Amino acid sequence: MKISHIKPLALILFFFSLFHGCVAVLNCTSPTPNSLFTELENHLFSKNQIPPVANFSQTLNVTISFTVVGILGVDAKAQTLTTFLWQVLQWDIAGLSWDEEQCGTERVSVPREKLWVPDIHISEFMDEDKSPHMPYVYLYNTGRVYDDKPVRVVSSCKLEIYNFPFDIQTCSLTFGSYLHFASEIRMFPGRTEEQILNETKDVLETNGEWDLFNITVVPSRLQLDSGDYSEIKFQLILRRRPTLYVVNLLVPSCFLVTLDLFSFLLPPQGVDRSSFKMTLILGYTVFLLIMNDLLPVTGNTTPLINVFFSISLALMVASLLETVFITNIQFSSSQYSAVPHWLRVLVLRYLAVVVCMPPKKKSDRVTVHLNPTNKDVSPDSTRNKSSINITENQGISTDLHPVNAPTRPAAPPEPALEELRKLSRDLTAIRLQVDKHFQGSKTAKEWQMIGIVIDRLLFGLYILFILASFVTITGIWILNNMYAA
Ligand SMILES: *[C@@H]1O[C@H](CO)[C@@H](O)[C@H](O)[C@H]1NC(C)=O
Ligand SMILES: *[C@@H]1O[C@H](CO)[C@@H](O)[C@H](O)[C@H]1NC(C)=O
Ligand SMILES: *[C@@H]1O[C@H](CO)[C@@H](O)[C@H](O)[C@H]1NC(C)=O
Ligand SMILES: *[C@@H]1O[C@H](CO)[C@@H](O)[C@H](O)[C@H]1NC(C)=O
Ligand SMILES: *[C@@H]1O[C@H](CO)[C@@H](O)[C@H](O)[C@H]1NC(C)=O
Repeated sequence: MKISHIKPLALILFFFSLFHGCVAVLNCTSPTPNSLFTELENHLFSKNQIPPVANFSQTLNVTISFTVVGILGVDAKAQTLTTFLWQVLQWDIAGLSWDEEQCGTERVSVPREKLWVPDIHISEFMDEDKSPHMPYVYLYNTGRVYDDKPVRVVSSCKLEIYNFPFDIQTCSLTFGSYLHFASEIRMFPGRTEEQILNETKDVLETNGEWDLFNITVVPSRLQLDSGDYSEIKFQLILRRRPTLYVVNLLVPSCFLVTLDLFSFLLPPQGVDRSSFKMTLILGYTVFLLIMNDLLPVTGNTTPLINVFFSISLALMVASLLETVFITNIQFSSSQYSAVPHWLRVLVLRYLAVVVCMPPKKKSDRVTVHLNPTNKDVSPDSTRNKSSINITENQGISTDLHPVNAPTRPAAPPEPALEELRKLSRDLTAIRLQVDKHFQGSKTAKEWQMIGIVIDRLLFGLYILFILASFVTITGIWILNNMYAA
């Protein structure tokens, strides 16, 4: 199969050998361009249709090296890397040589079309070639051809954006002959990695947000059914400069979350806090919408930064929900039934300690209760609650004895006494009302205490959660960077 492939080429070479003979030592008549050109015309340019090897068993050795002049961009969506290279190919024309003194020069530039040029091609090339066309190559008196040309490469590169914006990308450029098998053209690296990197660092001009971190060279062999191809794989290791993203994405996002955190300091009694948090969420959403263009778009992995944003948004929404809950407790607790005993013990006794809220001291509100010692003052058993004791915590106590306690039970009802009884009934009714009111207010107070304790507890959990997620994400970023470097 390989033989049949080569046959036409062999035929051509055979006929050329017949008519022109091998490329030979040039004999310049004088050290002038004219004389050298005549010699080249006669012995070399007429043979530009066939590879410059003396013998079919010989391989043409092509050395390749390049310098990265510009990193024009990385397209995460199209998964391509656009670079600008100075590509240098060198190979020898078998048998060609001339005497430097005889012909007047060590090297001469000749049109590319006049020579046989190897079809070196970059496997990852994905776009049409928009490289500028360079018409000349250098020809040395040893027969060496030096072909230096600029190449604009749009190469496919599998981008790993999990660590964005702290990502390191490895993109390969594989140089090899498109047509010729390894037995005809063999690729060699022209310079060491260090030399390439050194020169690249000297000339690299536009690199945008990317830093060329390292270059590695891997000679390789592509083995297909049709045959082996000699290749050289250069790996460009690029590191993104994260400053833009840190300043534009991460720092504002952290600010907003911090603001949300500090909004816990607003009193939960007002509606202020929930509307403040709502505004924050709205602002955050708008921020994400605006900054969406900065985020990479690919299908295969979700960048960690998106997880970071989701967590931030989720925290904000959770804290808003919590605020709604607390506000509800603050405003509608008067309609709630009494606090269940277990809840009171759990929250007011234990959780309050956890969140450093000392159990509240006795409130100084007015309490109204029966004074049972005054039972005997009235013979009327239905009216025996006629004495009301209004006690304040300060100890001021007022006994509202009926002014003229009936000491003579047999006495006929007098209008004054009747009036007093009426007054007493009214007072009882008022007392019952007041009692009920304060009872309800006590329940409400307890619910509010529970609300405050839970608020504090969730505030603490919020801080813990924020710290944990931020530390985790930062840790993953740092670890991944260390691993990739
Ligand atoms: C060049 O000159 C040498 C002698 O100086 C001669 O042997 C050789 O054949 C000449 N080559 C060509 C291509 O004319
Ligand atoms: C080709 O080169 C090999 C060794 O390199 C040699 O043995 C063989 O004779 C040469 N063939 C021709 C046609 O010159
Ligand atoms: C190409 O390189 C190989 C190995 O280095 C060597 O054996 C061969 O002779 C070289 N071919 C030419 C034409 O110089
Ligand atoms: C590359 O540059 C460094 C410092 O700039 C120098 O020490 C080193 O020798 C250079 N390496 C080569 C191969 O030129
Ligand atoms: C570049 O890679 C080579 C080979 O992997 C390694 O020896 C060298 O230390 C690396 N250079 C830098 C700057 O990391």
